Amino acid sequence: MININGLTFRYVGANADALTDINLRIPDGDFVGIIGPSGAGKTTLTRAINGLVPHHYKGDYYGEVLVDGKDTLKHTPDQLAVSVGSVFQDIESQLVSEIVEDEVLFGLENFSVSSGEIESQMEWALNAAGIPGLRNREIRSLSGGQKQKVAIASIIALRPKIIVLDEPTGELDPLASRRIFETLRELNTQFGVTVVVVEQKIMLLCEFARRLAVLSSVGLAIEGSVTDVLRHIDVLEATGVNIPRVATLAGLLRKKSLFFGEPPINVLGAKAMIENCLRGENTCLD
Ligand SMILES: Nc1ncnc2c1ncn2[C@@H]1O[C@H](COP(=O)(O)OP(=O)(O)O)[C@@H](O)[C@H]1O
Ligand SMILES: [Mg+2]
Repeated sequence: MININGLTFRYVGANADALTDINLRIPDGDFVGIIGPSGAGKTTLTRAINGLVPHHYKGDYYGEVLVDGKDTLKHTPDQLAVSVGSVFQDIESQLVSEIVEDEVLFGLENFSVSSGEIESQMEWALNAAGIPGLRNREIRSLSGGQKQKVAIASIIALRPKIIVLDEPTGELDPLASRRIFETLRELNTQFGVTVVVVEQKIMLLCEFARRLAVLSSVGLAIEGSVTDVLRHIDVLEATGVNIPRVATLAGLLRKKSLFFGEPPINVLGAKAMIENCLRGENTCLD
């Protein structure tokens, strides 16, 4: 469980708050997507969850963040890392080894996992990240998507309850991006890992996340289930988030009293919505 209560944070020397009065509760087992325009504080929010804010990045900090029951002010990022694993935006700086298996070992040894458990956790992590065949590969020979999965494997090898990822598909093409999200879904559904992911590709989030939190420069604009958030096109527009075309279409049809159902989250859903409208099933004829 992540509990963020009235969190406001301003980096040292900055003249505006990076986060303003954020209240957010993420239950165990959730899959939450964080979206928002550039500069809205998405990265800062991930840092507040893994403790880098305010332990590494200093500033004015108000409010409280509890991660797995631990107050992040009273625990160092290392202590928090047992509960929450982080995959940073700059993946190249996160990977420190030459060979995949060494990268995963590095974390396990750092966290004093007993030698008897290292092999099983290594195998589990490589499998769960979908890369059992890459174990002996040189990291520099891998594709961007494969490197992301190595980073994910090395983080989940420590069996954190929560994994926080900052734009993990930033450098990836659509197919590789999808594969990362399939891996995250697997971690979430098969292994109960709570997933918190910052992502610009809103359609991917809509398809894979259970809930969305939309950050704006003045705070948390809206938070809720994917379909609830997609209903609030006006809020999304005001925040400057890319609105999925299928949601825009649903909003237009609703305005014209032609559609009252749940907003679709993909093209197939949009097709069904249009077919319903054409059949007049959702039509209001007055
Ligand atoms: N290390 C830092 N020092 C000072 N200001 C920062 C630092 N990192 C981010 N900021 C500022 O905090 C605000 C939020 O940034 P960030 O969390 O990176 O937003 P996002 O990830 O949504 O683009 C921005 O105004 C940014 O310039
Ligand atoms: Mg960012």
